[in-house]
Amino acid sequence: MGIKEILGSLGLEASGLDGKKKDSLLDRVRSGVDELLPKIQEPISILGNFLKKTTKTISKSLSTVSDALDLNLYNAVNELRGEPQVESPNYTHEDFQALLEGESCPCAVVDMEAFDHNIEMFLKGMKATGKHLRVGTKSVRVPALIERAMKKFDFDGLFLFHPNEIKYWQETRGIQDFIVAYPIINIEEAETCTRGAARDPNAKITLMIDSTAHLHLLEKSAAKQDVNLHVLVDLDVSIDFFGQFAGVMRSPLNSPDKVVRLARKVNRFPHLSFRGIMGYEAQEAGIGDQSLLYRFMKQQSRGRITRRRAKTVQALEEAGLHCEIVNGGGSGCFQDTARETFVTEVTVGSGLFKSYIFDPIESLREFMPSLFMALRIVRTPRPGVVTAYSGGYVSSAINKQPKIVFPRGCTATSREGFGEVQTPITFNPEKVFLKHGDLVICRLAKAGEPLERFNHVVTVKGNSVLDKRLTYRGEGLWLG
Ligand SMILES: Cc1ncc(COP(=O)(O)O)c(C=O)c1O
Repeated sequence: MGIKEILGSLGLEASGLDGKKKDSLLDRVRSGVDELLPKIQEPISILGNFLKKTTKTISKSLSTVSDALDLNLYNAVNELRGEPQVESPNYTHEDFQALLEGESCPCAVVDMEAFDHNIEMFLKGMKATGKHLRVGTKSVRVPALIERAMKKFDFDGLFLFHPNEIKYWQETRGIQDFIVAYPIINIEEAETCTRGAARDPNAKITLMIDSTAHLHLLEKSAAKQDVNLHVLVDLDVSIDFFGQFAGVMRSPLNSPDKVVRLARKVNRFPHLSFRGIMGYEAQEAGIGDQSLLYRFMKQQSRGRITRRRAKTVQALEEAGLHCEIVNGGGSGCFQDTARETFVTEVTVGSGLFKSYIFDPIESLREFMPSLFMALRIVRTPRPGVVTAYSGGYVSSAINKQPKIVFPRGCTATSREGFGEVQTPITFNPEKVFLKHGDLVICRLAKAGEPLERFNHVVTVKGNSVLDKRLTYRGEGLWLG
């Protein structure tokens, strides 16, 4: 495959660059490909025996090819396009140092210009779809910012991750439309939901279910207060991709029949009503486009889940069960999800901050990093090494550490990483100068859990600090 074809299959073009730059960048891509070819020869020959091997072997070789393809090609292509990754659209290291001079660190900082830009990008991506954007609170966890996005999205519904959020949003903002997105199986939590319904008779408190056990629990609690609760049935939209599981392990309901069977039961519970379905296509929403294999998997996935969702809605309608809500997500594929005929709304959160695991997602290319973490240097153990206080605010699932973006050329050490109380940072002292009291600026892999570590975020715009906005933690909400 030639360079042009490779770029073409990545949906890219080499046009728009002047001759010299183009040549040198093409050379870089070429040498990247040269390096790549020997690496993928073996997996390709394994693939040649495709039909002779067991499914397990095939999926293993696909992973090997995928790893090989990941390499630097993605970065080289980005450079070729003249768009190197922007770590902070509006601020340099010096700007951050000046803005955060008096702040206790670690501190979380939100660039409001970039945040608002991301809101606009979401609106642009949804244009003409007629679908709603529902904010997923777990990925933001700062009420003032959630409210800001919600207002601009012109949709007063929230996608919560814990029942304890309901009271807060009812009492502080009068919100009435809630989806609690993860099933609850504890009577106390169920009662928190029914209290929400009792607090506001017009509220639609909607719980996620995928089993009759969930229904029994909710009915028990709703009957006690004599209120009505709503339910969404969780449709599994993970896929099997050549023997490999792609997606997240959530619901066992992976076919229209299974969803209809459970949905039919809902209306037998006098205090529960069916409101629709939700399916979260994590294999598209959270996976980058850096390898051809990922792109292929995502393309396959979209076709399959679009069909699965459509068939499910049709089967429900045939069974006399109308879906007021058909929810999908999230940030990493919101445009594709919104384009599905039967989808009524898309849940998004992470794109507002564009945490760094979303960098390789092509559809978010125009989004900007808006959330940063500043650490302050407290020691200089040796030349070329400084130590910052704290910093070990990892994001879950893939256990991703933060990433230093300023000053450039600084990295956490591989032995200690980002630590509980200290983070040693190495750099070339001929290129970087750091002293006690200076800041290092990081981006976070994902925002949810790290923001549980802060009472507030510092919002900045231009060269001013605007405000301190309380996080859920700052509001005293503990949500697990
Ligand atoms: C059920 C569900 N929907 C949507 C999302 C998308 O959220 P985000 O836009 O933050 O990726 C998530 C994130 O994990 C989720 O769990």
